[in-house]
Amino acid sequence: MVLAMAKAKEESTRISSVMNEHRMFPPPKTFARSSHVGSKTALKNLIDAASADIVGFWEEQAKDIVWFAPWKKPFVWKHPLAQWFVGGTTNASMNCLDRHLGTWRRTKAAIIWEGEPGDTRTLTYQQLHSEVCKAANALLGLGVKKGDVVAIYMGMVPEAVVAMLACARIGATHNVVFGGFSSEALRERINDSHAVLLITQDAAWRRGELVHLKAAADVSLKACKSVKHVVVLQRTSERTSMKAGRDHWWHEVLAGASRVNEPAKLPSEHPLFILYTSGSTGKPKGILHTTGGYLTQVAYTTKMVFDLRDDDVYFCTADIGWVTGHSYIVYGPLMNGATIMMYEGAPNWPEPDRFWDIIERNAVSIFYTAPTAIRAFMKWGESWPRKHDLSSLRLLGTVGEPINPEAWMWYHSVIGGERCPIVDTWWQTETGAIMISPLPGATVTKPGTATKPLPGILVDVVQKDGTSCKANEGGLLVVKHPWPSMLRTIYGNDERYREAYWSEFPKTRSHPGWYFTGDGARRDKDGYIWIIGRVDDVVNVSGHRLGTAEIESALVSHKHVAEAAVVARPDEVKGNALVAFVSLKSSAKGVNLDKLREELRNHVADEIGHIAKPDEVRFADALPKTRSGKIMRRLLREIVVGGSVNGDVSTLEDAGVLERLRLNDDE
Ligand code: PRX
Repeated sequence: MVLAMAKAKEESTRISSVMNEHRMFPPPKTFARSSHVGSKTALKNLIDAASADIVGFWEEQAKDIVWFAPWKKPFVWKHPLAQWFVGGTTNASMNCLDRHLGTWRRTKAAIIWEGEPGDTRTLTYQQLHSEVCKAANALLGLGVKKGDVVAIYMGMVPEAVVAMLACARIGATHNVVFGGFSSEALRERINDSHAVLLITQDAAWRRGELVHLKAAADVSLKACKSVKHVVVLQRTSERTSMKAGRDHWWHEVLAGASRVNEPAKLPSEHPLFILYTSGSTGKPKGILHTTGGYLTQVAYTTKMVFDLRDDDVYFCTADIGWVTGHSYIVYGPLMNGATIMMYEGAPNWPEPDRFWDIIERNAVSIFYTAPTAIRAFMKWGESWPRKHDLSSLRLLGTVGEPINPEAWMWYHSVIGGERCPIVDTWWQTETGAIMISPLPGATVTKPGTATKPLPGILVDVVQKDGTSCKANEGGLLVVKHPWPSMLRTIYGNDERYREAYWSEFPKTRSHPGWYFTGDGARRDKDGYIWIIGRVDDVVNVSGHRLGTAEIESALVSHKHVAEAAVVARPDEVKGNALVAFVSLKSSAKGVNLDKLREELRNHVADEIGHIAKPDEVRFADALPKTRSGKIMRRLLREIVVGGSVNGDVSTLEDAGVLERLRLNDDE
């Protein structure tokens, strides 16, 4: 932790330029007039009322989702295990679909989808319901039961949404694995969750090429005993090998399935999904989310943060393999009866204006993307968005990492035409829903900050000893009161859950125990929260969270690698780039180092996925270590960031190592 604090301190000096950010953007008057919360005073009243009775506030919001039976107790807390709306029964699929069928929304477009090659499909709420019921019946027919885990390894196709909602409908827990992950990563996630069935597709389109998902899944399945059946969507005309008895075509199993399926009446705490995310140790964490509390906070935040209206066309560019896709492509927008724009492929295919073209053709009004994407748009140049009429846009959002003020300003002027409020939303896989964000009709925004916690969310920036930081003092971001959409545990590992999130500020006789986010932050004199970055060994690359330990263990699994340490250096587009320091075994003597460098990068891509591929591999004869043998990543970080080491090296075992690394750097 001392190391972590040192890092936070180091980071806080790095962002000093951001500290001078004084520009302020009040909500445009016309926007405020028609929004759910339209003034600073209204927001203050809302926050004050919610803070006075957090549980009561969330109970009110829970009434906006549909329940089969009401809850008996709104909140049960056995630190750190939370239960919300206990005794209530509900269903996520019913909340996304059935609730709209008795209204005019039955014929409203739920999903407007565009494939990368340009093919399009629109599904109304009625049609989506029909598909989900058929898929639910198909899953039941294949023996999936309530409580079983179903893995989903697909690209951005409507059937991925259908698959998730079909699982939710019958009470199966979905485990979506990002289609960009390798077969090795899929295998690990299937085995850890004991998934009984896998839903995948033959291939997906990405930047004009096919990504062969089924072939990758076949490799994983060689070592996945729990999977009994595989359902394969035919997206392309690729030849796909099917294993008799195990593999079934999606269109065949759905063809015979009934359109009638009663949603299961599930307890509020029924597990809705597991989603794996990186932690500071090697093994990914299976973040478990349950039903009633998750739906409540996701529905509420979607409505308030995006200020959703029935005539909006809402476009979130995340992949459903990440939590943003779960909460803000699928559950939140559908519960609110929104029209979702969904796009299959790359933003720069066939040209760097694909998103702008989609926005113009579909009159998209809300656009939610990541800072890394915005930085890429900036690099590609203004001429691409300028070619399109973006006047349908009325609100912009960002998520995933701190947005640098230049990128915020570019987004504001070039994409938003200086008329759209920007909601910079801070949250995590673990929090399930947005926690810190402006409300667009009420909050004065400043470029680079997610502003303040939402009503009903109690967040603080504190010192290691728990005292609240003073204005502009760097500290640790904590959540002081449990919230409805919080993770319930790490799947199958309550102990790791406790250790990862609740051990930094533990519960004692005199302390209630707080959730530690892993983020460093500071709060300015207006109470706005500025995220500094992670203080553990997690790096944010292109808005994706990667555990350096996971990449290190992938490197070490290569036959020539003795030891590896992975650190981040700032990168203009990706936020961070990964630099791997590798020391080799004697077996590597005589091998071509350039070739090996490439081999190691590809090895990581095979083990985890392309997103984790180190940008740079540096060979070192030894890594800097403490006397107790711990690799001092802080020093490596200093080398990659500044080229030399200024920090404390008194615990370093062999000072010569640093000198050699530095020389290496100069080469
Ligand atoms: O460090 C914070 C950063 O992303 C982390 C969460 O990553 P993940 O679980 O992958 O979820 C990303 C999508 C919700 C956080 O701990 N982060 C996320 N949003 C922001 C952010 N940092 C600064 N500003 C944000 N708006």
